[in-house]
Amino acid sequence: SIEERVEDLLSRLTLTEKAGQLTQYFYMGVAINMPSDLDIASIPDEHRAHVQQPFMVQSAVRAGTAGSVLFAKDPALVNHLQRIAVEESPHGIPLLVGYDVIHGLRTIFPVPIALAASWNPAVAEASQAVAAAEARAVGINWTFAPMIDIARDPRWGRIIEGAGEDPVLSGAIAAAQVRGFQGDGGGGSVLAGPKHFVGYGASRGGRDYDDAEISDSELWNVYIPPFRAAVEAGAANVMSAYMDLNGVPASASSWLLNDVLRDELGFDGFTVSDANAVRSLEVQHFAKDLQDAAIRAVSAGLDVEMAMFDPAYDRIPQAVSEGRLSEATVDRAVRRVLTAKFRLGLFENPFVDEAGAATVLGSTASRDAAKDAAEQTFVLLKNDDAALPIAANALSSVAVIGQLAASKRDVLGPWVFDHDVDEAVSVLKGLRDRLGSGVRIEYAPGASIPERLHPSLFDRMDAAVEATPADYDDDAEIERAVTIAAESDVAIVVVGQRQNQIGEKSSQATLELTGRQLEQLRRITATGTPVILVVMSGRPVDLQWADENVPAILQAWYPGVRGGDAIASALVGDISPAGRLPFTWPRNVGQIPMIYAHNRTFQPEEQSRRYFDEPSTPLYPFGYGLSYSEFSYGPVTLERDRIAIGESVRVRVDVTNVGSRRSDEVAQLYVHQRFGTSTRPVRELKAFQRLHIPAGETRELTFELGPDQLRYWSAAARGYVQDDTLIDIAIGGDSTAPFSATLTVHGGPLES
Ligand code: IFM
Repeated sequence: SIEERVEDLLSRLTLTEKAGQLTQYFYMGVAINMPSDLDIASIPDEHRAHVQQPFMVQSAVRAGTAGSVLFAKDPALVNHLQRIAVEESPHGIPLLVGYDVIHGLRTIFPVPIALAASWNPAVAEASQAVAAAEARAVGINWTFAPMIDIARDPRWGRIIEGAGEDPVLSGAIAAAQVRGFQGDGGGGSVLAGPKHFVGYGASRGGRDYDDAEISDSELWNVYIPPFRAAVEAGAANVMSAYMDLNGVPASASSWLLNDVLRDELGFDGFTVSDANAVRSLEVQHFAKDLQDAAIRAVSAGLDVEMAMFDPAYDRIPQAVSEGRLSEATVDRAVRRVLTAKFRLGLFENPFVDEAGAATVLGSTASRDAAKDAAEQTFVLLKNDDAALPIAANALSSVAVIGQLAASKRDVLGPWVFDHDVDEAVSVLKGLRDRLGSGVRIEYAPGASIPERLHPSLFDRMDAAVEATPADYDDDAEIERAVTIAAESDVAIVVVGQRQNQIGEKSSQATLELTGRQLEQLRRITATGTPVILVVMSGRPVDLQWADENVPAILQAWYPGVRGGDAIASALVGDISPAGRLPFTWPRNVGQIPMIYAHNRTFQPEEQSRRYFDEPSTPLYPFGYGLSYSEFSYGPVTLERDRIAIGESVRVRVDVTNVGSRRSDEVAQLYVHQRFGTSTRPVRELKAFQRLHIPAGETRELTFELGPDQLRYWSAAARGYVQDDTLIDIAIGGDSTAPFSATLTVHGGPLES
């Protein structure tokens, strides 16, 4: 059995080799073999470490003091490293090979927040299954994904990597991604590593890596549930968060990693730190020195240290020999790592077929799947007088405006390293291909999008960032854009942010459209040419003016390799957009944080004005999105209107497509608990379903409501409770759906 093989191997490892299995090195090179005559001394100081680093890693693999690597992604290189591990290291233990496969490897899918906006877990699962197949083909057997941090502050750049503000939507999308990556869990799959456990999205002020103060009830009811869902879906790995949670760095919190993750959520895989996070325990003034950092992290249940140089875990053997760390604690972590390697079938199949990889990467079928996925993610924010879809047959000229419209790199979004930018389809190309030669398309880049004040984490790694040329003349380009728009039947204006303005280390203090994008939009609108606004962003931007003045707005996110084709399909009506917002879209930055699931105040909702100089409502609510059709909801009916605590009930509703086009609709069920052990939010999403309904047809939907949906963690009870209470129920197309049924739940509170 796997257990016996693990115990046998473990019994033969030295303490140094055990620490090695707990060490993961960045592999900072692409070369397989260093020329033997390379003169290290001739390399400038600042580059020397990086040149030497891959060879240091190869030596560690050979000595059996490295259990895994990350960022090796060339199949020949991965095979080379595996060969050293299997054939030259003392026990021949293969490597785990990790990588950030976030939304595709070679075939780039829409960014994760977009996949969440599909409200379709099947799309998230299918997308990540393609990503996993490509990853495995090059030898990657572990991905640091999905990121499932709840994000309630869109200033935080990593909002783009998760599923937004809601624990139920995030949980469903998280579980789907885990299933997609891991498949059947055997030889063909890639280990999924949901991250970052836990609370990273709550970093103060939306500033990346800042500490987070989260109440117990928010932690249990909001931040932990997506991890519960990912663990229940079988996630093999979990990455700990960098930041300090309520005064303890998450990477050294025994309460989080042992008590919550394992004892409460039932996780039985292995954990990994974020990059250099164990060494950072010293930087965070938590650990006295690197040995202390290693002792406290491994004791807290942090199994693998991800490191660039000089891992803190190198100090494990000495800590054990000094009696400061028990060998049993080390063995516990090593056991988990070896178990993952055996379960993956790595001992049987450590190598990949180098020639075969090329046939898997970026296949036409995969790129088609990326287009299909993108089509599900668009959110139609506004569509007055059926401005969309544009009447492709009746048009003779179209203006396409905006730097983002012609960009191949931006359409892909951040966190992509192995794409082929030439394969990417820009909005401009997508429209040209779809509209054909019968329609005159004029393009102008118009207002430039200013660069970041501080460089992005990836600017140096990602040579393909499309920078605005230094001699770019904004005045002249804006004039040209306005003139072209004035002379066209319709102007498609693409605004938003460049892909390097969102993601890790991309927190932002403002939400306004940067540069002169808004000024340009105002001028184009003033020409009288109908404007269609396409927004490319991974966070809400300030669309107040646009919402009042532009007839149609499509939130397109960063839609991936076939993004331009998918956007064209939506604009001309080949498909109907039907995605929904996975977060509340505020009017401006001053409203943040703004979530739909807030608690009531002591005043009735309508009197509870939150700012005297602002409406209390967001620009667009959570769950919101239009389509090219209209849907009506019948009465919500309960199988029984009274249940006991612990029982379940079926809730039914008829949804009818009352418009004239077939489209998807996303039915969302919300509850509100009227009284109980703790106060509960004004509404909470409990279930949803995206369904396709042809024009004029009706579908009956059934949801189940029971203890899984109605229990919650109460600060008053210090545990989970389900109350004797009244539950109001609403089903509709967004989070403003009216409550229309009430369920009585009777009986005493359940034990936690
Ligand atoms: O996986 C990532 C993590 O999300 C942020 N820090 C670096 C890791 C490895 O690239």
